[in-house]
Amino acid sequence: MRTKPKPMIELKNIYKVYKMGQNDVVALRRVSLTIARNEFVAIKGSSGAGKSTLLHLIGGLDRPTNGQVKVSGSDLAEFNDDELTIYRKDYIGFVFQFFNLIPSLNILENVMVSRMFNREKGLDRAQKLVKMVGLEGRMNHLPSELSGGEQQRVAIARALMNEPSIVLADEPTGNIDTETGMEIIKLFNKLKKSGTTIVLVTHDEEIARHADRTITLRDGKIITPNP
Ligand SMILES: Nc1ncnc2c1ncn2[C@@H]1O[C@H](COP(=O)(O)OP(=O)(O)O)[C@@H](O)[C@H]1O
Ligand SMILES: [Mg+2]
Repeated sequence: MRTKPKPMIELKNIYKVYKMGQNDVVALRRVSLTIARNEFVAIKGSSGAGKSTLLHLIGGLDRPTNGQVKVSGSDLAEFNDDELTIYRKDYIGFVFQFFNLIPSLNILENVMVSRMFNREKGLDRAQKLVKMVGLEGRMNHLPSELSGGEQQRVAIARALMNEPSIVLADEPTGNIDTETGMEIIKLFNKLKKSGTTIVLVTHDEEIARHADRTITLRDGKIITPNP
């Protein structure tokens, strides 16, 4: 008998309101969403639709104004700030549109930059990750010596350093061409196969098609049917 995968991320009735002086900006309204463990979900929507806000709430970078964010059964609202920091470090790998590599550090050093592990073990893992993202021969190179797509692969390796259960990627292919972007997607598919949950924000229809499921946001609301 096929067992249903255990839900990993559950959002219930999420509202996010940014207070802007007299004007409130409602970034998310009534967003409910379940993402299973090991799912690769793409979030689409035009600029300002609330995509980054949604990722920030899942990643514990921000808290909802209303509603519940649960990850593996834990309600993030019950975490204090220290626990939330630990949650981010232990569970989440962030990948952003801008690669944010440190220009003076080589590729291997950039991957190891968080220093949340002992040096020897860290070095071994970093080397394996650099290999996994296909940059084996480039470990001693500086970011400036790499193409945009290669730099993004380094940023992904860095995000994986702590073996996150969830990778949150905010327009990771926004600064590279679609063809190179496809290499990034292949990498995400590989990660998914090894048990990681992926939530990817993208404008790019072509990129989104490779996810298991696409969710579209408009004006802070989910407009696609959501099983
Ligand atoms: N820190 C903030 N303060 C005030 N308004 C914000 C903030 N972050 C986002 N917003 C607003 O919330 C809405 C959704 O933003 P965002 O989640 O960044 O959308 P997207 O990532 O889809 O472009 C936008 O109207 C944006 O201007
Ligand atoms: Mg955004």
